[in-house]
Formats: sequence, structure tokens, C-alpha cells
Amino acid sequence: MEALLCRRLGDPTVSISSESPISISTSHPIPSLDSPTAVRVRIRATSLNYANYLQVLGKYQEKPPLPFIPGSDYSGIVESVGNGVSRFKVGDRVCSFAALGSFAEMIVAEEKDLYLVPDGCDLVAAGALPVAFGTSHVALVHRAKLGPGQVLLVLGAAGGVGLSAVQIGKVCGSIVIAIARGAEKVRFLESLGVDHVVDLGKGSIIESVKGFLKARKLKGVDVLYDPVGGKLTKDSMKLLNWGANILVIGFASGEIPVIPANIALVKNWTVHGLYWGSYRVYRPKVLEDSLKELLSWLARGLISINISHSYSLSEANLAFAAIKERKVIGKVMITFDEHDRPRSKL
Ligand SMILES: NC(=O)c1ccc[n+]([C@@H]2O[C@H](COP(=O)([O-])OP(=O)(O)OC[C@H]3O[C@@H](n4cnc5c(N)ncnc54)[C@H](OP(=O)(O)O)[C@@H]3O)[C@@H](O)[C@H]2O)c1
Repeated sequence: MEALLCRRLGDPTVSISSESPISISTSHPIPSLDSPTAVRVRIRATSLNYANYLQVLGKYQEKPPLPFIPGSDYSGIVESVGNGVSRFKVGDRVCSFAALGSFAEMIVAEEKDLYLVPDGCDLVAAGALPVAFGTSHVALVHRAKLGPGQVLLVLGAAGGVGLSAVQIGKVCGSIVIAIARGAEKVRFLESLGVDHVVDLGKGSIIESVKGFLKARKLKGVDVLYDPVGGKLTKDSMKLLNWGANILVIGFASGEIPVIPANIALVKNWTVHGLYWGSYRVYRPKVLEDSLKELLSWLARGLISINISHSYSLSEANLAFAAIKERKVIGKVMITFDEHDRPRSKL
């Protein structure tokens, strides 16, 4: 089968050659069913997350031994099942996520880790749902208990997790403030009915958000969703209400922010560190219920997946470049059927 291999750590955005850290293997062994409850899936689509980029760079918290097949969330069709599998049959449409291995034509998963993609859900879109929407759903609904009328501030709001947080915020009935850089991202967020969008390219967020809060007679931000870190986190702390929840999701800026404990004390803030993947180990039921709810929202049209860039496996360097260059609005995908790649390239 075709698979993308990371043979050494480095920048995956350079064109794929013997110099590149990633290469395409066209004769990689098809993974075997390694238990009676294993299911082999022919992958239709797999999404790129910032973490996949960091992992090939060697800057992610989990460092697998080389060589490895990168990739986490995916969707596809069940190709074969072990003799103990009871919930799936060949031909079923499924999605899931793995620690590694989805940048390949096939992957094997335990049946307990697979989700049936409901009728009415686009299968390619379902391949982008687990990591981004799963993270935001567990963070906002399970951890921060976001409710109607609460003010949600989303940083990196046009990125993978950011855009999912914006949409989940709207589903929860909250007042959503989105921060993104550039006119195209701002226009897109406004088209979703976001209550206030700030273009980072036009200066500090503080005055703009304060102006909006004042005009709406709101005291401050109740929930901060932060996948960016750095100066943006520092500025955002000036906008938080008494009793606010801070969701520490990631550090796309490359800078880990400091949240002063003395101010958290005085203002009664709750700081949530959230590592979504670890819920599969420590709270699998929370993760399972969350993904089932999200798939039902997707089927009912309450949320949608915006795919701004799609590539074939052999163009993976371009997919990584779209992430690195902050061009993505929503998700960038690798798809295995050319009919699933209608979007324009970089
Ligand atoms: N905790 C968890 O379990 C979990 C799960 C998923 C993701 N994450 C983390 O969340 C972060 C975002 O992931 P993602 O997949 O959503 O990435 P993404 O799609 O690339 O989005 C990242 C966003 O961050 C903004 N950004 C600000 N400074 C940046 C910089 N220096 N370089 C790149 N982007 C920058 C960009 O928005 P503008 O260009 O508009 O500023 C971009 O849209 C990553 O740190 C990732 O590791 C954590």
C-alpha cells in the first residue's frame, strides 16, 4: 500500500526527495488484523493537525521512534474485520483517530475505537472531525461547561481547533468573539455569524474587544479558548471576567504563556490544561460520548467542516506548508480519491 514515512526529523514542507524528512513508500506492508476485535479501514481522508507538523519537526511532546507513519484522525470504509468484531461489517463508513499511522491507504483499529459515520454526514468531512472538534467539545462543554449568554473568546479562531471552538460556542448559545489574522479569515468568520471578529493584523485585540463588550453591556470574557499562547494570551487576560475559565489548548505561536497564580486567585479564574488524546486512556467514556454527539451535530447540520486545502499523499509537503504558512481556514486534508480534491491549491 501507499504510505507516507517520516524517516528523520526535520521540515516536512520542502519538496519530497531524498533530502526531505518524509518520503512516500508505494509498497508498504498492509497492516494485519492483530487481534480478533481488530478492524482494517481503507482510508478515504485524513486531516493534518498542527501536532502532526510539530511531530515531524521533532517538537511534539510524543516522540515516536523512527521511521513512523504520521497522521491521527481519519475516515474511510471498513475493508476487513476480525472474527470477534460485532459492531462493524465490511463496507461500513467509519471515522476515528490514532496516535500515528493515518497518512497511509489502510490502518487497523480496535472496534471500540471506531465510530460509525451517520447517514447524511460527508465521509471526507468526518475525517477532520475527531481531533479538532473533539478537543474543542471536551474543552468547552465538558471542562468549561460553556452556557448560553456566556462570552467566549477564541484565539487562532480560523485554524483547525479554533474554528471548531467558534462553531461549538454558537451551538451552546454563547456570545463568540474570534481572533484571526487577515481579511479572508475575518470575512469567513463573519459569514458564520460570529458576534465580533478582530483582525490581528490591525493591531492589539484589547481595545477592539473592550469596545464590543461595552457596546453590548457585557462585563468581560467568561471562557478563553487558547490554542496560540504568547502575547495573545497575555492580552486576553486583560479581558477576563471574575470567575473566568481559561482553556490551555496549545502554543501555535511557539511561546508558552505565563498565567500568574496571584491574579488567578484574586479573580477566581480556573485554568484548565487540556490534552484531549489522553482522554482515551483516562476518561474514554467522556471522549466516546463527545464524538458521538459531534457526529450527530454534523449529521443535523449544526456544525460543518470547512476544508480550505486538500492534497494527495504525494503532495503532503504542500499540506504541511499550508499549516506552517497559516493559510488554512478550518482544515487541510489528505485524500485518497482525486474526486475529493476540488479545492484550489496554495
Ligand atoms: N491540547 C490538545 O489536546 C490539542 C488538540 C489539538 C490541537 N492542539 C494544539 O492547538 C494548536 C492549534 O492546532 P491546529 O491544528 O488548530 O493548528 P492550525 O489549524 O494551524 O491553527 C493554528 C492557528 O494559530 C494561529 N497562529 C498564531 N500564531 C501562529 C504561528 N506563529 N504559527 C502558526 N499559527 C499561528 C493561526 O491563526 P492566524 O494566522 O489567524 O493568527 C492558525 O490559524 C497547536 O498548538 C496544537 O498542538 C492541542
